[in-house]
Amino acid sequence: MSKVRLYSGEIIPIEMHRVSTVHPIRLIPVEDRVAALDEAGNCSYNLKSEDVFIDMVTDSGFNAMSDAQAGAFHLADFAYAGSTTYYKMAAKIKEILGKEYFLPVHQGRACEQMLARSFVRKGDLIPTNFHFCTFLAQTRLQGGELVEFLQDKGLTTGGEDGFKGDYDIEKLERFLSETPKERIPLIRIEAGTNLIGGQPISMDNILAVSAVAKKHGIRTLLDMSLVMDNLHFIKTRDEKRRDMSVREIIREMADAVDIIYFSGRKLGFARGGGICMNDHDDYITVRNNVSCFEGFPTFGGMSSAEMEAMCVGFDDTMDEDVISQGPDFIEYMVDEFKKHGVPVVTPAGGLGCHLDADRFCDHLGKKDFRGAALAAAIYIVSGARGMERGLSSEPPEDSIAPFELVRLAVPRRVYTLSHIRYVVDRVCWLYDHREMIGAMRWEDESVSAHMFIDFLRPVGDWRERLAEEYKKAGLE
Ligand code: F0G
Repeated sequence: MSKVRLYSGEIIPIEMHRVSTVHPIRLIPVEDRVAALDEAGNCSYNLKSEDVFIDMVTDSGFNAMSDAQAGAFHLADFAYAGSTTYYKMAAKIKEILGKEYFLPVHQGRACEQMLARSFVRKGDLIPTNFHFCTFLAQTRLQGGELVEFLQDKGLTTGGEDGFKGDYDIEKLERFLSETPKERIPLIRIEAGTNLIGGQPISMDNILAVSAVAKKHGIRTLLDMSLVMDNLHFIKTRDEKRRDMSVREIIREMADAVDIIYFSGRKLGFARGGGICMNDHDDYITVRNNVSCFEGFPTFGGMSSAEMEAMCVGFDDTMDEDVISQGPDFIEYMVDEFKKHGVPVVTPAGGLGCHLDADRFCDHLGKKDFRGAALAAAIYIVSGARGMERGLSSEPPEDSIAPFELVRLAVPRRVYTLSHIRYVVDRVCWLYDHREMIGAMRWEDESVSAHMFIDFLRPVGDWRERLAEEYKKAGLE
């Protein structure tokens, strides 16, 4: 992605690719959108994609592939054992991340399951900058618990600090000195940090966590699922690393940690995941779990075709024009929302533009599912689907979320600036009519599982009234 200055003086992000394969989308009438919400239990994850005009629920597995990636499908070696594709991917991991051993699995949470099964025992405590719900769930399934060390700056939705995903190193040090080492099998770092608005962690902070971990003899685990955005932010916000290439930055990061895992639905623009490391004993432990639960270790949970595409996707990821496409569109959205007074998480983070549902819907109570209600309202007035990042995104046993946000994800290379401008426009209209957004309640607690899938019902007929008002505005 690059930016251009228009004749008018306005600066806009501009796509550094042209489109050769397209997928038609349709905008169903506003009444049908209310009906679709009914069918979906008012949860954007339960909507059928054919009823969605602009799909901003996630970028996961939804980033557009390059022509080279699509072409690579045909190179796949589907051999059950020892496939050429696997060795190609392992070599790419070695080249970019410098890790000797690579294990493919079917997606990010499968990495987490393999790692938790391999290393977490009952009563263990895992430090992390912030939790991600799937890793938290896997840790708990093994009887462990996460302990968060995010600096206070990350726990606010405002401010302009460029690295709100940073660890509080002093607190971590204190915890490690006071806790028996046997209870801490690993220290997890999430780069960038999903649930606080896609905020990045700085390289200096990663190096500091790594130094502390080494001092205490504890292995470090880096979740690189959102690393593309994090790399871009290090390159653009860290003075010391401005002149480094993306390859140099990711290598510095990888060298600082023992084990890396990632959702290949995000990093690598394919559908899969991977774990890599240098320690042979750790490799054997994780490999045995992969063999039991995912598949033979040279394909794990992945199709060889996806692995070929992921291999090319890793090279694509080393290109600043490619990785900046998400953050540049997100920054554009955040700036436009700020102009209109719409509350958003600042500074602009990765993965998506995050609306602050607590402030957007401050007329509703904390237990009114502000995030889910706002996500439903956005769908009604635009046909765009975001996702709530609040209570519904937490593991089943949790009854309150640290934030109620709505994320409008920006899958890379999928939507154009006119799509983005349309969504911004409809959300601004909604903000001016925000008092019409009402509360949500559990529809059926027994089938609501959090982890993105809940079934909710609106309190009263606010959705129908909102749809009516929107129609009156003549915007459709
Ligand atoms: N770690 C992080 C930081 C993630 O953002 C995700 C997924 C995972 C692990 C799990 O990966 O979905 O492939 O199993 N995030 C998706 C999202 C669901 O849209 O936020 P997965």
